[in-house]
Amino acid sequence: MTISIPSKGRSEEDLFAALEKYREHDLDTHGGRTWAYVYDPGRADVERIAKRAYLEYLTENALDPTVFPSLLRMENEVVGMAVDHLRGDEGVVGNFTSGGTESCMLAVKTARDWARENRPEIDRPEMILPVTAHAAFQKAAHYFDVDPVLVPIDPADWKADLKAIERAITPSTILLVGSAVSYAHGVVDPIPQMGALAQARELLLHVDGCIGAFILPYFRRLGASVTDFDFAVPGVTSMSMDYHKYAYCPKGASVVLYRDSGLRRHQLFACAEWTGYTVINTTFQSTKSGGPLAATWAVLNYLGDDGYLDIARRTHDATRAIIDGVGGWRTFT
Ligand SMILES: Cc1ncc(COP(=O)(O)O)c(C=O)c1O
Repeated sequence: MTISIPSKGRSEEDLFAALEKYREHDLDTHGGRTWAYVYDPGRADVERIAKRAYLEYLTENALDPTVFPSLLRMENEVVGMAVDHLRGDEGVVGNFTSGGTESCMLAVKTARDWARENRPEIDRPEMILPVTAHAAFQKAAHYFDVDPVLVPIDPADWKADLKAIERAITPSTILLVGSAVSYAHGVVDPIPQMGALAQARELLLHVDGCIGAFILPYFRRLGASVTDFDFAVPGVTSMSMDYHKYAYCPKGASVVLYRDSGLRRHQLFACAEWTGYTVINTTFQSTKSGGPLAATWAVLNYLGDDGYLDIARRTHDATRAIIDGVGGWRTFT
């Protein structure tokens, strides 16, 4: 069956009735019955604020911050909040990206290009991935010709196995990856020990906090024992953290952060050798809607630290109740 653009435009009423019908089998993302996919803070006001800010910036193009300086300002603010949240110092820099996969892939591309400059003797760079690391890293390996070296985890606690990582290091290793937390098992890898190993062997260490890094500091403030996993740990050279998960921002919202601008330099792309405009891209995307960034800025400022702490408290209590219900509590360590 071929589908063509309709010969005549359809009415607004007809369109929205059709959309209503199209979505009849979609999951309901409100009310706590859908896990993952959409992170519901359980508050209609948060969704209202997000949609309003998103629509305000729906048509703005974040391609060129000199044309829309408000978008640059918002990016600096949401990245700055991430740096502070993850205990980075004034040297830590980063960018707003479209999601966890883009953040992780940028970190791998940056590591590859860092190695091309700093480890030119390496022909085929390798990165060590505990099998719990998100598939986004294998996607990055596939795209950027970095060989993924998968290592087993400790079967007792599902954390990265340090000895296995150490054994897997070769003269071609450029990057270690740890998770805080791993998507499938919700555990924090031994980041302090991985940081020490990375420093001793002069490797980069990326901590993937796409799903955990935003909420873990709140759990820590609520009394949970949380292993250090952020820029407070020596040896951590980059991190990813999604705002579109437990920061309850709409999709298309993540950050990738680097210990210093010298490392981040390898992420950037600039091109003036063509007949069009000068392209300067901080991320993979070039033209992109300002909607996700504006919505993220709005939700972070609307909920504020106390709003997030309150949601984290309810999440923590609910988690505890569920775990008690199935017969055993394991702390977030
Ligand atoms: C730890 C981790 N890393 C990366 C990703 C990929 O993020 P996204 O689906 O936003 O691209 C996820 C997604 O759940 C994740 O949990």
